[in-house]
Amino acid sequence: MDAVSAADGQIGEGVRVIAIDGPAGSGKSTVARRLAERLGLEYLDTGAMYRSVAFAVMAREVDLADADAIVEVARNSDIQVDDASVIVDGVDATTQIRGPEVTRSVSTVAAISGVRDVLRVRQRAWVMERGGGVLEGRDIGTVVFPDAELKVYLSASAMVRAERRAGEVSALDYETVAADLAARDAADSSRQHDPLIQAPDAVHIDTTDLTVDQVVDELIARLG
Ligand code: DC
Repeated sequence: MDAVSAADGQIGEGVRVIAIDGPAGSGKSTVARRLAERLGLEYLDTGAMYRSVAFAVMAREVDLADADAIVEVARNSDIQVDDASVIVDGVDATTQIRGPEVTRSVSTVAAISGVRDVLRVRQRAWVMERGGGVLEGRDIGTVVFPDAELKVYLSASAMVRAERRAGEVSALDYETVAADLAARDAADSSRQHDPLIQAPDAVHIDTTDLTVDQVVDELIARLG
């Protein structure tokens, strides 16, 4: 049997998959990256994949209201996400996928079930190729890898999340970031397909008053 079935996300013996979900600014990327380092695993930012599709949609001037055309973009775009860079159709999009235009359109793109089908298959294949990994996103523990060894749901107060994001995107003021974040959270949590929800068996950690190492230590302890 394959270590991971690309079709249904079942995980074979000896394959370590850690799923980290939560809203924007909850600390997922930093925690996932550091946890992966500590466990000697690779890390995948699945949000960067959705952002890459949104980037390709804009680059090809596809109408955001045309779901079929957007699914086509997802199917035939070449997206290379690694720890240091994001390359979309041969173009370095590392900075632009974090910019305001992509950030405003990504929830629309991520709400399309055909787009999610394409990226879910790629996320499972990514794990299969590496024999495991730490993945972060919105639906990793609920949909992509419901049998992950450890499922984590991170949250933080709306204020702290907006402060963290405003710190990352220096061109934007706190109020703008806070408003965008609230709109994106609402869209990501209320969409019909794979909305952001906590898996019933996920470990929930509120990171508002915790350091990254405190969160990572807690997760390592849970792994036993
Ligand atoms: O983590 P992020 O903010 O970079 O994610 C960008 C968007 O992608 C987010 O608004 C929702 C979507 N997303 C998703 O729907 N499913 C995932 N597994 C990861 C991200």
